[in-house]
Amino acid sequence: MFMKIILLGAPGAGKGTQATFLKETFNIPQISTGDMLRSAVEAGSDLGKKAKAFMESGQLVPDQLIIDLVALRVDQADCDNGFLLDGFPRTIPQAEAMKEAKINIDLVIEIKVPDQIIIERLSGRRIHKASGRIYHTKYNPPKIEGLDDETGEPLIIRVDDAKETIMKRLETYHQETEPLAKFYSSWESHSSIESPKFVSIDGTGSSNDINALLSKIISKQ
Ligand code: AP5
Repeated sequence: MFMKIILLGAPGAGKGTQATFLKETFNIPQISTGDMLRSAVEAGSDLGKKAKAFMESGQLVPDQLIIDLVALRVDQADCDNGFLLDGFPRTIPQAEAMKEAKINIDLVIEIKVPDQIIIERLSGRRIHKASGRIYHTKYNPPKIEGLDDETGEPLIIRVDDAKETIMKRLETYHQETEPLAKFYSSWESHSSIESPKFVSIDGTGSSNDINALLSKIISKQ
């Protein structure tokens, strides 16, 4: 199956959780701009130095840095059969830049989750840093509290999952990213050969239920 997919959604909507399942099921790479930026910050690269303060304060990294990063990534050989974009685009200029660069997308899926649930999800999130495995203290707890199931290594809390940063990220999301749903639905309604299909789903069910629904939607394409 040849499939280029964008997962849209607020921070904590479950994009990373679902991408982990979907990349296995459909055998396409997950491209998480958040993970790429966190690796750059960790490595202390030029990009990481520029991105760090934006990320830690819950703001978006400037568009041009991200657009260049993604354009290079989707050009790599493992994307020949498709890819799953998790966290990009996040602004209208990023979506426009992708359109101009003729990075054509087949399917855009918006995962909708109300703010109150987002706050609970992000406050309880725990991460295994080396693998990126995602846990939740209540909804997806590790077998032993605070430790990764596979390696037994300690889990961490992301710096930007602090309460006040979560609130800032939600504000940024509503201002800059949420309008993308309208951007893609209106593009679809003015259908052209390049316009991706747009689907919006309720993301408040269990991870397994959401996964079954997404798998069904993607398989139907
Ligand atoms: P990024 O890493 O992309 O963070 P985000 O969009 O804020 O998304 P998250 O990773 O927080 O949430 P998620 O939707 O993946 O949720 P998850 O599956 O983990 O970006 C970080 C920062 O980088 C940004 O703030 C920005 O500064 C910068 N950046 C990145 N991309 C950028 C771009 N394109 N432009 C500019 N700047 C950019 O789930 C969350 C929790 O909920 C977990 O604990 C999980 O176990 C739990 N959970 C998931 N699904 C369910 C469910 N169905 N039921 C119950 N619990 C669930």
